[in-house]
Formats: sequence, structure tokens, C-alpha cells
Amino acid sequence: MIECKNIEDPEALVDYLRQSDRIDLDEKPTIANLAGGVSNRTVLVSLASGEEWVLKQALSKLRVTVDWFSEPSRIKREAAAMQYLTRWTPAGAITRLIFLDESNYILGMEAVPQPHENWKNMLLRGEVCREHIVDFAVLLASIHRNAFENRKDSFPAFEDRSFFESLRLEPYYGYTATQVSEASNFLHELIEDTLTRQDTVVHGDYSPKNVLVHDNRLVLLDHEVIHFGEPAFDIGFSLTHLLGKALHLRENRSVFAKSASLYWHTYLENLGNVPWLENFETRCIRHTLGCLLARSAGRSLLEYLDEGERGQQISATLDCIADQPHSVDDLITNFCRKLK
Ligand SMILES: Nc1ncnc2c1ncn2[C@@H]1O[C@H](COP(=O)(O)OP(=O)(O)O)[C@@H](O)[C@H]1O
Ligand SMILES: [Mg+2]
Repeated sequence: MIECKNIEDPEALVDYLRQSDRIDLDEKPTIANLAGGVSNRTVLVSLASGEEWVLKQALSKLRVTVDWFSEPSRIKREAAAMQYLTRWTPAGAITRLIFLDESNYILGMEAVPQPHENWKNMLLRGEVCREHIVDFAVLLASIHRNAFENRKDSFPAFEDRSFFESLRLEPYYGYTATQVSEASNFLHELIEDTLTRQDTVVHGDYSPKNVLVHDNRLVLLDHEVIHFGEPAFDIGFSLTHLLGKALHLRENRSVFAKSASLYWHTYLENLGNVPWLENFETRCIRHTLGCLLARSAGRSLLEYLDEGERGQQISATLDCIADQPHSVDDLITNFCRKLK
């Protein structure tokens, strides 16, 4: 086996790529470390031919201030996800897998061509484009619907939920329950209910930060917590990003609130008639409340919120937990109304 302990060490990486026959011995690629990720090393490799790859190496200790560990073998799950998701989503929405090296926990994929921009950065500048919101909803609905229709394949491929449990349920809901005692029962029930559901494939990290915009189209990245489970989690997780920005960007608040509603309705329209819709809206509301709290009081905070904004998010969410809205639209309105 050719070893490569750290792909962020350019010399070691070039050596590894040559020794493992991924590039020619006389190839001199340009290497650039990509910032932004917390659970992986991510490196851009540019070859003389003009071809560009992104390599990802899973870390066992995540790059956050508190100790947080996860098995690096999850890179294998991410590689499988790229292959399955390609079949279920609009063309170009998923990057192509080039190789998987299970021993070094590395995968190689096609780089999204330049120019591209991280969608989160665009949103934080207040650039909210209706077409992107619609695409984001259609993409999630196509994953949830097509993975359900293909559950004979998707269930065995993504049945294991251990990464979702260690990277989402515990740090988001479990840890937050220890920090916000008023919400402890709510969060523990949410964990239990989540574990009872096996409806379809759940991305688990459906965030604008994991979306690049290229040619005005969305490309989805970062599939390491994908699993077969509760699709309402993806809605709660993603709506939280839109609502957190509604809070943070006061001048754009109504645009983000309208976009959150458009996102939800577009998703539902594109989901079609799946058999797991009973109580679905309530489940989505509960996951949105759980994620709103987790991202303001948990182990993985929305980094653009200052302490005052986090306090507002916690109190608006606790109010909504105490008096739970009956629809996602009511949740959006009630949450935003409680903000300064
Ligand atoms: N295929 C790709 N093409 C271009 N940039 C990429 C690609 N994959 C990842 N990146 C960049 O690297 C960052 C981190 O990648 P990501 O898969 O989200 O890793 P992490 O799990 O550490 O968050 C992304 O936000 C993006 O900017
Ligand atoms: Mg990421």
C-alpha cells in the first residue's frame, strides 16, 4: 500500500499520486489547499492537461474547538453517495467520483470548474436568487423521491446510520439538550422519533455551504452523513440556514422568509406522492426547531451569528417550541416576528 497520511502536505501528495499511478511520474501538478471544511482535508490538484481534481481525506478529529471524533472510514460512504446521487439528481448536480482509496481515507473527484462560488457566501451578501432557491428544493425532492423509488438499492447502501448519529444526532440534539434544559424533553423525543423512521435517503448536510454555484446551477458536495432515515431532518437542517440568515441579515429578512416558504412549497410540489407524508409537515417543523436550537446553543454553531443574535435565535425558537406552529409557513412567520 502507498501511504499518504496528510494530503495537505504537497510533496507527500505528489509523491503519493505518482507512486499510486494516479498521475504520470513526470507530471508536476499544482496543489492548493481548499479552506472551508471542518471534517476533511480538501485539496485542489491541477494537472498540466488542464484537468482539475479535488481530493478529500477524512479526518478522525474534526477541526472544531471542542473534541469531536468520527471514523474516517466514512469517506467510503461519501464515495458511494456520489455514485448513487448522480442517478437520482439533475445532470451536473453531483461531482463525478474519480477514485476511492479506502486505506488512506482519500477520494478524488472532478473539481467544479471555475468560475464558481460558494452559495453560502452569495446568500450572506444578500444575493438571494429565486432560481437558486427553486433548484435547491428540486434537488432535495429528487433525492428523497428517487431514492425512495429505488429503495431496493438505496436501503442496503445507506442503511448504516452511525455517522449520522455521531455527527448529527448526538452533537446537534443530544448535546444541545444538555445546554438548554427547557428543550431537553423536546430534543430527546426528537432523537427517538428520528431513529424510528426509515423512509428514504437523507443527505444529512444539506446546507448552502455545501453548494457551489457554477453557470448559475447548483452543485451539491459533502455527502458523508448520508443515510436511510428521516427526510424531515434535511428540511429542518436546510430551513435553519435560511432562517439563520433571515435573523443575521435584517435588511434582507423578508426576502429570506419568502425564500424559506418558496423552498418548502417547491420541495413538496416536486416530491410527489410518497407514502411517508403522514405528519410530515409537523416532523419538518420539529426538526427545524431542533436545528435552530442546535446551531445557536449546540456544539456546531452558525459562525456568522454573534452572541446577541444567538440569544435571539434561542429565545425565538424556545417560544416556538412552547407554542408549536401548525405549518412551516407559520413557523417562518412566527420565528421572524420574534426577532428584533
Ligand atoms: N469538487 C469540488 N470542486 C471544487 N471545490 C470543491 C469540491 N469539493 C469541495 N470543494 C471545496 O472544498 C470545501 C470543503 O469541501 P467539503 O466536501 O464540503 O468538505 P467538508 O466535509 O470538510 O466540509 C467546499 O466548501 C468547497 O469550497
Ligand atoms: Mg462541507
